[in-house]
Amino acid sequence: MISIVGSGRVGSSIAFLCVANGVDDVLLVNRDKKKALGEALDIASAIPANSNFSIRGTDDYSEMIGSNIVVIAASVGSYKKDRTETMELQVKMIKDIAKQVKQCCPSAIILIISNPLDVLTYFFQKETHLSRFKVIGIASNLDTSRFRYYISETLSVPQSSISHALVLGEHGDSMVPIFSRVKVGGNPLFSMIDNRDSITSNVRNYWKKLRNYKSRSQFGIAKNTFDVINSILQKKEIHIPASIVLDGEYGERDVAMGVPVKINQNGVFEIEKIKLDDVEMSSLKKSSAKISNDIKSLHV
Ligand SMILES: NC(=O)c1ccc[n+]([C@@H]2O[C@H](COP(=O)([O-])OP(=O)(O)OC[C@H]3O[C@@H](n4cnc5c(N)ncnc54)[C@H](OP(=O)(O)O)[C@@H]3O)[C@@H](O)[C@H]2O)c1
Repeated sequence: MISIVGSGRVGSSIAFLCVANGVDDVLLVNRDKKKALGEALDIASAIPANSNFSIRGTDDYSEMIGSNIVVIAASVGSYKKDRTETMELQVKMIKDIAKQVKQCCPSAIILIISNPLDVLTYFFQKETHLSRFKVIGIASNLDTSRFRYYISETLSVPQSSISHALVLGEHGDSMVPIFSRVKVGGNPLFSMIDNRDSITSNVRNYWKKLRNYKSRSQFGIAKNTFDVINSILQKKEIHIPASIVLDGEYGERDVAMGVPVKINQNGVFEIEKIKLDDVEMSSLKKSSAKISNDIKSLHV
C-alpha cells in the first residue's frame, strides 16, 4: 500500500497517477478528513477495470499500518517569495507526522515532497531515526526536468537529444544545475551556450514564473514522484538526484540536499560520486551552507 499524507494538489495528483496506472492500493491521509474522502472518491473513478487496487481516504494515521511507501505532501500554509517562508510551521508539522509514521510504518520507504524540502527531509530523518537511506526528498529530479526544459527551449532542440542533465543541492534559490556533464546530440552543452547564468536563473525561478498563471505547481512533481514509486514497486533501479541526509558525501554531513542517488526496492543503495567542475563544486558548498543555516536558525 502507498500512503500519501496530504490530499492537496500534489498529494491528490500523485494518488491519481498511482491509481490510473494500477500500481498498488492508495490511502490518502489528510488533516481535514472530508478532503481525503472527496479526493479518494473522485480518483476512484480512474481505477482501470482490470485493476486489483483501491483508493481510500482517512484522517486516521493508524490506517497506514502495512504501507511499504509513505509520501509526505502535507502543507500548512503557502509561501510567496521563498520556500522557507513557512519553514517553522512546516517543521512542526513534519515532526508530528514523523512520529505517527514511525509508529505505523517503521520499515516503509519515505518520500518527502513538502517544502522546504531539504530542511523537512533532514528533520523527518532526525525525528524518526529511520535509516537515512529510506528517507528521500523528491525535488531535484523535478528541477532537472525544468533544467532540461530550458536547455531544450534555449537551443530549440527536443528534450530527447539532451543527456546527463542534473540539478543538485537545495530545492530552492541556491540549487545548482550541473552544466559540465550535459550533452546535446552527443556534443558538450558548453560548446553551444556562452554562460550558465540565464538558464540557471530560469530553472531557479521556474515556480515563480508558473505562479504568474496558476496558483501552484502539481503535475511535474506528481510525475517525478510517481516514477520513483513505480520503480520501487516494480523492483527496478532508478537513478535520480534526490535529497538525503549526508554523512561525508560531497564533503558535507548533518545536512540534507540533492545528490545523485540510486534507488531500488530497499531505498537508496548508492550515493553516486560524480565529477563536477570548480564552479559547480563551489556552488554546491554554498547551497549546503544555506540549508545548514536554515536548519540551525530554527527554534522548534
Ligand atoms: N518537492 C517538490 O518539488 C514540490 C513541488 C510542488 C509542491 N511541493 C510542496 O508540496 C506541498 C503540498 O503542496 P500542495 O500544493 O499540494 O498544497 P495544498 O494543496 O495546500 O495541500 C496540502 C494538504 O496538506 C494537508 N495537511 C496539512 N497538515 C497536515 C497533517 N498534519 N496531516 C495530514 N494532512 C495535512 C492540508 O489539509 P487541510 O485540507 O486540512 O488544509 C492540505 O490538504 C507543499 O509543501 C509544496 O510546497 C513540493
